[in-house]
Amino acid sequence: MIPVSTISLPAETEALVNEVLRSGMLAQGRVVARFEQEFATLTGVRHAIAVNNGTTALVAALQVLDLRPGDEVLTSPFTFVATLNAILDAGAVAVFADIRDDDFCLDPAAAAAAIGQRTKVLMPVHLYGQCADMDALAALAQTHRLDLVEDAAQAHLASIGDRKAGSFGLGCFSFYGTKNITTGEGGMITTDDDVLADRLRVLRNQGMRQRYEYEMAGHNYRLTDLQAALAIPQLARVDDMIATRRANAQYLIDGLGDVDGIQLPQQRPGRGHVWHQFTVMITDEAPMDREEFVTRLTERGVGSGIYYPKLVFDYSCYRDHPRVKVGDVPVAASVTDRVVSLPVHPGLSQRDRATIVAVVRELMKA
Ligand SMILES: Cc1ncc(COP(=O)(O)O)c(C=O)c1O
Repeated sequence: MIPVSTISLPAETEALVNEVLRSGMLAQGRVVARFEQEFATLTGVRHAIAVNNGTTALVAALQVLDLRPGDEVLTSPFTFVATLNAILDAGAVAVFADIRDDDFCLDPAAAAAAIGQRTKVLMPVHLYGQCADMDALAALAQTHRLDLVEDAAQAHLASIGDRKAGSFGLGCFSFYGTKNITTGEGGMITTDDDVLADRLRVLRNQGMRQRYEYEMAGHNYRLTDLQAALAIPQLARVDDMIATRRANAQYLIDGLGDVDGIQLPQQRPGRGHVWHQFTVMITDEAPMDREEFVTRLTERGVGSGIYYPKLVFDYSCYRDHPRVKVGDVPVAASVTDRVVSLPVHPGLSQRDRATIVAVVRELMKA
């Protein structure tokens, strides 16, 4: 079976982990600080603040923005549930605007139309490894004086123009086991704002600046040096990882470009896609529906994933939630019924890639 994602850690990881084990310091220490510094440099920002996962990164980013009861966060309905849970955890109201079907990200025109009196934060999601239209969305945030929080959980080092994901506002990253860069569990917040960076560092450590001197009601959001030790060797090879994902994506695009029944993912001009997922959409011309396609792929040894089978708010636990405001999002509703992600990770062999192309071609001919 060709898995839809794999974990492969560079050989030097073990030595660095052993160094941490012998150092006598397992909690947040020097290695976390090094991880933060290297990640900030790669992302092109002044500060990176490590936290224990990507959901925490989003919650913490919202917490330092001093939202008041009733304040709204405007985001995409086509995302992982953590985006919504983080908004609710931070005490805010979640509001949704539709996406575009060429990049699966917030549609700036729809976002503009959804901004209201109580909107305080614009939270685009850089889905599948491609940046949302940040030129338009950052301009929108500026016009309406909204804070910008980027859910960049899937988009480490994705770019738009000469800027990286996470360099426009408060960038929130995940290093969960399936992500392009992983620490098993882990997260990071990036920012150029010195004041917010300082608040995030204090917030993550129980609100404590000096030992037993508390200046805000904080939390324990800390990452461990053991986890940071997993990330550092990956950062040293991140260009190779991204280049391999891009080569794999191009191979699939070349091999599947003329196939009826699926619509291939698009890379918008000026955007550097890092291909966290390679997501196709089943069209009306396909000889089978999505569920059958996934079943047949599995039978032929090709792993796949449906990210995400429903819109984020379309679950009974959110249906009558007083802080979930559901709007009309027809593009997202259509996309969520049709997406299937195929393997694109750097662990694919040439044979794997050829198999994926051959199997998809064969199924779509049936
Ligand atoms: C879009 C998105 N947002 C947020 C998260 C949350 O990250 P984590 O699982 O590290 O909490 C994830 C990943 O899982 C994600 O894909």
